[in-house]
Amino acid sequence: MRFLITAGPTREAIDPVRFLSNRSSGRMGYALAGAARHEGHEVCLISGPTSLDVPEGVDFLQVESAKDMYEAVRDMQRGVQVAILSAAVADYRPVAVAMQKIKKDEGEMVLRLERTPDILGSMRSEFGYGGVLVGFAAETQNLLENARKKLERKGCDMIVANDVSRPGIGFDSSMNEVTLVTKDEELHLSKDTKEHIALAIVRRALEFIS
Ligand code: CTP
Repeated sequence: MRFLITAGPTREAIDPVRFLSNRSSGRMGYALAGAARHEGHEVCLISGPTSLDVPEGVDFLQVESAKDMYEAVRDMQRGVQVAILSAAVADYRPVAVAMQKIKKDEGEMVLRLERTPDILGSMRSEFGYGGVLVGFAAETQNLLENARKKLERKGCDMIVANDVSRPGIGFDSSMNEVTLVTKDEELHLSKDTKEHIALAIVRRALEFIS
């Protein structure tokens, strides 16, 4: 099988030296790429900037912004059977990128932001992707309800729901605890290393192909 996996944060430029980003380490996505490869699959990993080593045998594309990631996913999704979009894509970017470093001034500064393209939400409708589609939902409240809405809205087969309000799991941690939400069930995976969680996600995603 051929897998496409997105990972890490994106960076949205403000000026030549500044950007908006988030705390994603990329570990969950890299663990997914490693797990899929370990199970004998072809893997294309599209990642925002991280400090991680790329798992051996994985095709790797490094991107910076949400727009870069959108274009890379659009171009690479053909021929893919399983797409797992775990990247923490920035939802907003500055409306304009200053060509020169912005100099400070007295008083407040206002940064105008606009929405970035929704990559997961474009897979079915714009890219015409027909394979297994897995998204992530990082929530601090109403975890399962929001995950279920996301599952339907974005045409996913599975949402990996992650309670990011809990300390010691998720963002910037080596451990995770998630619930796999599908149309008919909710499967809780108790706290474990991201490598073990990744393997369970890969195996569950493959069950949609028969
Ligand atoms: N995602 C994406 N492109 C974006 C934003 C998010 O592909 N521009 C993907 C993420 O990789 C993840 C899922 O969408 O798989 C997260 O969905 P999103 O609607 O962004 O949810 P949250 O960021 O969790 O939050 P909310 O809907 O509450 O804003």
